[in-house]
Order: sequence, then structure tokens, then C-alpha cells
Amino acid sequence: MAELLLKLCSAAAFLLAVLSFNSSFAAVEPKPFSRYISPRSLRLHKPEKLSHLHFYFHDIVAGENVTAVRVAKAPTTSNSRPFGAVAVIDDALTVSPDIGSKPVGRAQGIYALTSLTESSLLMAYNFAFMEGEYNGSTLTVMGRNPVFSTVREMPVIGGSGVFRFARGYVEAKTHTFDLKTGNAVVEYNVYVFHY
Ligand SMILES: *[C@@H]1O[C@H](CO)[C@@H](O)[C@H](O)[C@H]1NC(C)=O
Ligand SMILES: *[C@@H]1O[C@H](CO)[C@@H](O)[C@H](O)[C@H]1NC(C)=O
Repeated sequence: MAELLLKLCSAAAFLLAVLSFNSSFAAVEPKPFSRYISPRSLRLHKPEKLSHLHFYFHDIVAGENVTAVRVAKAPTTSNSRPFGAVAVIDDALTVSPDIGSKPVGRAQGIYALTSLTESSLLMAYNFAFMEGEYNGSTLTVMGRNPVFSTVREMPVIGGSGVFRFARGYVEAKTHTFDLKTGNAVVEYNVYVFHY
């Protein structure tokens, strides 16, 4: 009799364990991989805004406080033939051409010399803003930069924070270029649609 009771008890315990295992399984059931949602649920029903940002970009490749470093090159890369060189940047962005002026963010990313015949870069970088309502938001730029052209246009391909769903373009214009060091200050006008 006692033995039967024990068996019943262990069967019940087993059942309980299985049931609770099942219910914990149900709790981690995955959400659907994809579904349609309304733009309103991400507050995208409001009209898009068009913003214009203006600042100066400081590309310091030599001297004190370097912010652009060459990390790779091809065996054929040289000063007279820079094709194949790759640099990583964390360049300051300021409100005026003076590097000591108010900072608004950093340009973080890479550029590579991708033309066999001219000084032209492929640039892929993020503007990481730290000013006012833009603090913590980013814009992603990827484009072609023939550095000796007066104005170079590159696409803004996206963004984060206040710049979610951003698209637009930048105009980069050299403010000063030091032929000896290669250091440059570049004026940026950025035009972006965002919500
Ligand atoms: C480099 O950075 C230091 C510290 O911020 C600053 O005092 C110095 O003036 C900078 N040098 C140049 C050439 O900008
Ligand atoms: C930007 O945000 C960071 C982190 O929230 C904060 O520490 C910093 O003071 C802010 N900067 C400005 C200029 O508002």
C-alpha cells in the first residue's frame, strides 16, 4: 500500500515536472520573424523634416594630436602613387574652422585611396554628434571624394537617434590644406530628410 502511494507520488511529480517544463517552453516561444506594422507605431506618420547642418571637419594626419592614421597600403603604394592606402579616422567636427572652437561631434570611420589616376577616396564613416538635440545621434556617409575638386558630394545613407530613416547628401569643400603635412580642414554642408 505504502509502495503504491510512493509510485503514485513519483508519477505525479514526474507529470508536474513535464508540465512545468512545457509551460517554461511556451514562455520562450519566439515572436514571428516578420510582420507588417503601421508607420504610426514608430511615429512615422508625421511629415518628414529637412535639416541643414554646417560644421568643419579636421583631418589631422601629421604633427600633434593626429586623428587620422594610415593602417594599410599595397606593395605598390608610394607618395607619388598613393593608390591602395587605407586610413582610420576619428576627426573632430567644430562650428568654425578653428579646431579650438565649439565641438559638435566626431567623424569616425575609414577612407581608402581607390583611384589609380587621381587623389580620390572611398569614404565610409559615421558622424557621431554630441551637440544639443543631436547628442547621441549618428549619420552614416558613404561615397566618393575626389579631394582636389572644389565641392565633393557624398550620399548620407542612413542614421540613428533623431536621424532614423535619414537620407540625403553632404557637400564637402576644402577650407585649408597643408601641402607639407597633409592636414586638412574641410567645410561640410549636410542636407538630410528625417522624421
Ligand atoms: C594637442 O592637444 C593638446 C591637449 O588637448 C593641446 O593642448 C594642444 O594645443 C594640441 N596641439 C595642437 C597642435 O593642436
Ligand atoms: C551628450 O550625452 C552624453 C551621454 O548622455 C553626456 O554625458 C554629455 O554631457 C552630453 N553632451 C552634451 C554636449 O550635451
